Amino acid sequence: MQQKTMEAIVALCKRRGFIFQSSEIYGGINGFWDYGPLGVELKRNVREAWWRDMITNHDDLNVCEGAPTSYQMTGMETSIIMHPNVWKSSGHYDLFHDFMVDCRECNSRFRADHVCSSECPLKPSKHPGEHDKCSLTEPREFNLMFKTILGAMGTEEDTAFLRPETAQGMFVNFKNVCDSSRVKVPFGIAQVGKSFRNEITPRNFTFRSREFEQMEMEFFCHPEESRKWYEYWRDRRYNWYINLGITGDKLILRDHEEAELAHYSVGTADIEYAFPFLEAGEYGELEGVAHRGNFDLRSHMEGKLTKDDEGNLIVELDENGQPKYRGSGKDLTYYDDDAFLRDKESLGLKSFKAYCEQRKEEADPGAPYRYIPHVIEPAAGADRATLAFICEAFTEDEAPDDKGKMQKRTVMQFHPQLAPIKAAVFPLIKKEGMPEKAAAIYGALKKAGVAAYYDQQGAIGRRYRRQDEIGTPFCLTVDGETANDNCVTLRDRDTLAQDRVPIDDVVAEIQRRVDG
Ligand code: GAP
Repeated sequence: MQQKTMEAIVALCKRRGFIFQSSEIYGGINGFWDYGPLGVELKRNVREAWWRDMITNHDDLNVCEGAPTSYQMTGMETSIIMHPNVWKSSGHYDLFHDFMVDCRECNSRFRADHVCSSECPLKPSKHPGEHDKCSLTEPREFNLMFKTILGAMGTEEDTAFLRPETAQGMFVNFKNVCDSSRVKVPFGIAQVGKSFRNEITPRNFTFRSREFEQMEMEFFCHPEESRKWYEYWRDRRYNWYINLGITGDKLILRDHEEAELAHYSVGTADIEYAFPFLEAGEYGELEGVAHRGNFDLRSHMEGKLTKDDEGNLIVELDENGQPKYRGSGKDLTYYDDDAFLRDKESLGLKSFKAYCEQRKEEADPGAPYRYIPHVIEPAAGADRATLAFICEAFTEDEAPDDKGKMQKRTVMQFHPQLAPIKAAVFPLIKKEGMPEKAAAIYGALKKAGVAAYYDQQGAIGRRYRRQDEIGTPFCLTVDGETANDNCVTLRDRDTLAQDRVPIDDVVAEIQRRVDG
C-alpha cells in the first residue's frame, strides 16, 4: 500500500496553489493559513456541499431517511465579536482553557496534554522534559479566547473576544429566529463562519489553527425526542464524509466515554479521520456531534450554569450567593401552540394562559406545551474537512505517457463535487481549427457555471498530468476526429477511460458526471 506522507501533501498544496503559510514572505505566522487559487475553490466546494446538504436541498415537507419526523432548517450569519456576557454565560470565559507548560531553558511552550507527543526543541528525538537541560514549569491555565479592545478608550471594560465557536451566535438568536421565520420545533439553524482560538501549539498543517472556519448546526427539539435526533444527526453526518469520498476504514465514529463528555453534554460522538501525520491506529477529530441538552438556552436565560453534587445543572453563585454571571433574563422557552390547540378542546380550556393559571401550583405550569428545547449540535471544521479531503485524495499511481510508457503520477482523487476544476479543455494541437472549437466548449462550460480550465500548452500527456495533480476529474480533448464526428474525447481521471461525446452534449454530460 502506498504511504502518504504529510511532507508530500504539504509540498503539493504549496506547489499547486492550494494552501500557503500566512505572511510567508515575512517568515510566516504560526497557526494561520492562506488558501491559494485552487484551495479557495476546494474549500468553497466543501462549504457549499455542507450548506446544500443542511439547507438548500433540505425538503421539510417529507421525512428524511432515518429521521424521526420531518423538520425545518434555516441559516444564519452572526457576528464574530459578540457581547462579552455571551461568553460569561456560556462558560467560555471561565472554562475555555488548556493547560500549558513552559520550558525555562529553551523558552518553548507546550500544551500539557501534548508534552508526550511533542519534540524537545533542544533534542528532537526526545520529548520535552526528557533532556538533561529541560526545566518545565507546572501546568498553568491559559484561556484560548483572543481578546480585542472595542472603541478608542481601550480600557479593561472595553475588552471583547473573537468568538471561539460559531454556536453561541445561533443560541442567542433562538428567539429572533422563532419570532421572525415561523419555524416550529424541531428545526435547525446552520451557520458557516470563522472562529478563533489562541491555540498554545498550533500544528499539523491546518489541523490545529488559530483562525479557522466552522460549519455548525444547532438543532432544537423536544426533550423526549432528543435521543432519537442525536442518533439521526450522528449517523447522517458520518455518512456525509463517506458520500464525498472518504473511505470507511479511515473514517470512524467514536462515542465519547462518560468522563470525556463536555460539562454540558449528555452524549457526544466524534467523527474522526486517520490523518497521515498520526501514528497508525490513531485518528484526529473532524467533527463532534453533541447532545447538549438544554444547557445553552438555559445559560443564556439564567446565567452561567454548573453541576451540583447530584449532577443537576444549577446557576453558579458567587461568594455573596448571587449568580456569578447573570444571563440575559429573556424568555428562551418554546411554546408549542400546535400541540396546545390540538388538546385544547379535550382539556376544555379557552387559552394557554388559562391552562397555566389552572396549573399554577405545579413546578412547571406551562408543561408540556411550553418547554426549553434540547439541542443536538453537529460541529464540523471546514478546514479540517478540507484537509481530510486533500489527504484522502492524494494518490500516487501509474498512468501511460504519450508513448504508452507507464509513468508515476500524482493524482488528487477528489470527489467531482469537491474538485476545484471540474473539466479541462484541450485542443490536441494549436492549429486546424482545434483551438477555436476547444475555446467554444470552454466558453459553454463557463456559461453553464461549470468550473473549467483551458490549456493548449505542451504535450497532451503533460496536460493530463497537470490536471491529475490538481484533481480535475474530466478532461475534454478536441482532436483530428472532431472535425468529422463533431465529438470530443472525454477522459476520466480515475479510470483513465476515454469516451467520445458529441460536442452538443458535453456540458450536460459533465454536469451529470459531477452531480453523480
Ligand atoms: N460548538 C462546539 C465546538 O466548537 P469543537 O469540537 O471545539 O466544538 C468543532 O469544534 C470543530 O471545529 C472541530 O471538530 C474541528 O473540526 C474544528 N476546530 C476546532 N478547533 C480547531 C482548530 N484549532 N483548528 C482547526 N479546526 C478546529
